[in-house]
Amino acid sequence: MFDDASIKDTIGNPTGVYLAEVGDMRLGERNFGSILARGDNDLVMDALGTKFHEQVRCIYIDPPYNNMESYAHYDDRDHHDEWIEKLTRHVKKLKKLLSKDGSIWISIDDYQVHYLKVALDGIFGRENFVSTVIWEHRKTRENRRAFSNNHEYILVYAADANAFKRSRNRLPYDETVKGRFKNPDDDPRGPWQSVSLNVQAGHATKSQFHEIISPSGKKHVPPAGRCWMYTAERVSELVRDNRIWFGKDGQGVPRLKRFLNEIDGGLTPQTLWRADEVGTTDTAKKDVLRLFPGETVFDTPKPEQLIQRIFEISTDPGDLVLDSFLGSGTSASVALKTGRRFIGIERGEHVITHCHHRLKLLADKYGSGIRYFELQGD
Ligand SMILES: C[S@@+](CC[C@H](N)C(=O)[O-])C[C@H]1O[C@@H](n2cnc3c(N)ncnc32)[C@H](O)[C@@H]1O
Repeated sequence: MFDDASIKDTIGNPTGVYLAEVGDMRLGERNFGSILARGDNDLVMDALGTKFHEQVRCIYIDPPYNNMESYAHYDDRDHHDEWIEKLTRHVKKLKKLLSKDGSIWISIDDYQVHYLKVALDGIFGRENFVSTVIWEHRKTRENRRAFSNNHEYILVYAADANAFKRSRNRLPYDETVKGRFKNPDDDPRGPWQSVSLNVQAGHATKSQFHEIISPSGKKHVPPAGRCWMYTAERVSELVRDNRIWFGKDGQGVPRLKRFLNEIDGGLTPQTLWRADEVGTTDTAKKDVLRLFPGETVFDTPKPEQLIQRIFEISTDPGDLVLDSFLGSGTSASVALKTGRRFIGIERGEHVITHCHHRLKLLADKYGSGIRYFELQGD
């Protein structure tokens, strides 16, 4: 139940979260932090009207997968046709909220992924399909089934795939990646990693087939089917600038030195997201258990690291994100911790017992330290 006390308390708190029931939304206000809304997501979308059209940079949703399970907090059994019809109707509403470079990320499993992909192609156009991320959602082996199901999918679409590609962020280098950069020749430019100097010969020009002579006098030609990345003149320049590595003994196949301090923009996101990097359903459950010790376990939370990676790629601090199947409040929590504003929608009682509680804990922990961004005037 929403009671006046919880609403007042939330409005005044430093998270800037506005907790509202459908029909009681303070839309039209110039400034707002974030919205936690309780109600059916379609109804909430209708209540929002056009207020947030083209304002949301990232939508993440984790709808019921229609996997015929019945969970403590929601039921996941529907007729296939109704399930896909309801979800596509809702996604059509969400699409209007996406900013020009905005993207939508939808979690789904093996059972419905292909039907959903076809439906989403119809909504966004195949040209705006960005990727299918594969998330290793469990590390243990499920022995009761023919195949142990260890991954889920996240389908990624953009309002405009080209605009998304231009504006999306790369991922920061972690310590493991940085550790691959060494400095065996004490180069004053710092640690570097060697990469292949030969490439596929498919589109090569004649000038890319030549001999490279190492300082020790050894001659190198590209392997069959390959050519050098650069012309002979360019390779000579790079050798003079100590940017070609011929191995410790100077006899090895030439490779290009890539310096850590010259690589900007971080890592291009890959499509395979390992459990060790972004957590599993089990690690997420344990995190949620710690947050809500007295509550019935929420069965299907996503790990915060998974959502953090999505927000890091698709948004910057201050941007508005939306999750209309909020569950235990994971995405709202990540948004607050990373300085994004959010609209979170959940129809179950757990909007209070889990989402609201989780955000209050955060507010208590960070106090006014939580960044609060105001929406600029219309
Ligand atoms: C898979 S869970 C989301 C879990 C979430 N990602 C997390 O990390 O906790 C799906 C949620 O969607 C909610 N839901 C289902 N249909 C809804 C609807 N029409 N409107 C609002 N919420 C809905 C369910 O109550 C459930 O909490």
